[in-house]
Amino acid sequence: MKIPIFILLKLTLNNNEFKILWFKTVDSTNNIAKKLAEEGFEEGTIIVAETQTKGRGRYRRTWFSPKGGLWFSIILRPEMSPNEVFKLNFLTTLSIVKAINDLYNLKAEIKWPNDVLINGKKVCGVLNETKIKDGKLEFVILGIGMNVNIPLEVFPKELRKTSTSLKILLRENVPIMVLLQKILKNIFFYYSEVKKNFIQILNEYKCFMKMLNSWIEINVGNKKMKGQVIDVNEETGALIVKLRNNNFQEIFDINNCRIKLLTS
Ligand code: BTN
Repeated sequence: MKIPIFILLKLTLNNNEFKILWFKTVDSTNNIAKKLAEEGFEEGTIIVAETQTKGRGRYRRTWFSPKGGLWFSIILRPEMSPNEVFKLNFLTTLSIVKAINDLYNLKAEIKWPNDVLINGKKVCGVLNETKIKDGKLEFVILGIGMNVNIPLEVFPKELRKTSTSLKILLRENVPIMVLLQKILKNIFFYYSEVKKNFIQILNEYKCFMKMLNSWIEINVGNKKMKGQVIDVNEETGALIVKLRNNNFQEIFDINNCRIKLLTS
């Protein structure tokens, strides 16, 4: 691939060495990671970019990726079935929340399935993409976008109500490399545990879950429902909601589903 690498770093975590490919600018770190994974790059390769020109969010949204953010993707080759990939989403989100809270003493929370909010505003999102061949998972790209050293005035007006950055909250810049290392350390720790200890990871995830026990409004297509979030299904990752008529509804992370928090 002919994209100029700005720098190649080697990071050692828990005696494992990881390669970090650090770019000045790319279209999307997930795109680069996918191409490299196709070329055979190993599990644990990390692609970081200072800016993205075509950063992608979930639901085919664009992801605002100016300088000052932490935009990166990790190549994983897990031995799990495609329907277990939600476990990676959860452990990634948990890793991010814990890194933020431990490093900066903030109260980051999880908005199911994998948004990270502080004071109700989004500070980080996760976009995981997979390659499945003959029903088998070939690789997973964990794409993480965090608003770190981005001042308020740099956000487009329409994002200012719903998004924030660590700089806005802490009133100072934070060292990106320290944050990246802490997140990676958490991710690779939970990743090494996911097979035998997913229930424990899920329990930790639920401790940071903003919606648990709250009332929510769910919009699916033209249909609106209100209910109370009861739990997360450990087999599928679906949100379990008790509706006002006492029926239970499982919500999967589907594209046309919007969730609004009514009470906390
Ligand atoms: C979301 O919609 O909440 C997920 C946003 C994920 C953005 C990150 S930034 C690094 C990686 N590259 C992308 O193009 N997207 C993800």
